[in-house]
Order: sequence, then structure tokens, then C-alpha cells
Amino acid sequence: MEARTLSVSISVAVTLALIFNVYLPGVTGATFAIQNQCSYTVWAAGIPGGGKALGQGESWSVDVPAGTSAGRFWGRTSCSFDASGQGKCSTGDCGGLLNCQASGQPPATLAEYTLNGGNNRDTYDISLVDGFNIPLSITPSDASCTAPTCSSNINTICPSELKVTDGCNSACVAFNTPQYCCTGDYLTNCSPTNYSKIFKDQCPQAYSYAKDDAPSTFTCASGANYKIVFCP
Ligand SMILES: *[C@@H]1O[C@H](CO)[C@@H](O)[C@H](O)[C@H]1NC(C)=O
Repeated sequence: MEARTLSVSISVAVTLALIFNVYLPGVTGATFAIQNQCSYTVWAAGIPGGGKALGQGESWSVDVPAGTSAGRFWGRTSCSFDASGQGKCSTGDCGGLLNCQASGQPPATLAEYTLNGGNNRDTYDISLVDGFNIPLSITPSDASCTAPTCSSNINTICPSELKVTDGCNSACVAFNTPQYCCTGDYLTNCSPTNYSKIFKDQCPQAYSYAKDDAPSTFTCASGANYKIVFCP
């Protein structure tokens, strides 16, 4: 009886091993290494991932499960948290938590990604659709994939009507009109504006508004890992 139970257990284990290792080859998650090269502390945040304070030169490694879609990392500035991890940040604040469980407040430069999408490829982009707070780059471990960067400090050239502490709002965030947000009459036909062009000029590889052209999104064969650098 015990031998029979053992043999059933083994065959279940072998079946599971076959399913996960043989029949779905290559379906692995990715490790994101978040590195702060800014001269100031950045409170890194991830959905999924949570959050961590990174002094200059410090890194944070986050393992993201296979199949994660609409994941994002961003940086928060000028934060203060109490011992229980509650507080606030000037930019990127996620409901006052050190350990983010939801997206952050604009403006924030976003590193967005989906793992194991169509054709078993990952997609990723840098988005300024919610504005800009910190220069950022994304570097896949697979050197054949594009490593987009937004290294310009857009805060220094931000028009006064978009400027906030530590950041530069997008026109959509600042004015919330259909033309700037690509909603309503502009849902399917949304052109760059004088404001989105400011962001595009500074960071040509980043999304500058919601319907920015395709070259802002990049793909890489799944299985790659990613390095995200603040102030590359
Ligand atoms: C952008 O265009 C709007 C509307 O035409 C105008 O009010 C605004 O001053 C312009 N801003 C910049 C930075 O060119």
C-alpha cells in the first residue's frame, strides 16, 4: 500500500516536472536589477515588487513571475517614512506606503513591461505619459535587444505650467483635456502637441503621450533579465 502511494506520488511529480520543464520550455520569469546612479536617494517602486530606498550606487533585485503583464518600476523622490513604512513622497507616491501595492502619483518616469507576451517575447518601454521625475534607462541582458534610455533631466527645461516639486507633469496630467489625453474625439486620432514634443525632443526613445508612435515600445525574447538605472 505504501509502495503504491509512493509510486503514485512519483508519477504525479514526474508529470508536473514534464508539464513545467519540458512542455512549456522557456517560461521563466525575469530578474530586474534596479540601480540608483543619481546623486540623491531614490525610493524605488515596483508593481509587482513593492519598494525600497536606494542611496546613490545602491541596487535592488526583484524576481518577477513569468507572464506578468502591465508591470512597472519607477522612482520616488523626497520621501519620508516612519518605522511602519508609512509616509509620503514628493513624486511617485503610492498611497503613502514604502512598499507599494498600487501605482504611483504622477509625475513619474515609468519603466513598463510585459513578460512572455505574443511569440514568447517580452515588451518594455519608458513612459512619460504620466510626466517625468527621474532620468531612467532599461537594459536587457540580451545584447541584441534595444536598451532605451531617457537620460535628460527634463525638470530643468519643464515649462512653468507643468512644473511641480521634483517633477514635470505631462500636459494630460496638468490640463486633463481630450486633446492632451487622447480621449473622447481624440481617442483614435491623437497627434503630438507642443507639450508632448518637448518630452519627445528630450527623450526620443520614450513614450511622450498616450498614442505616441510604435518606436517607443521594444521587444526582447523572453528569458532575458533587465537592468533599470535611475540617472543613467
Ligand atoms: C502650447 O499650446 C497652447 C495652446 O495653443 C498654448 O496656450 C501654450 O502656451 C503652448 N505652450 C508651449 C510651451 O508652447
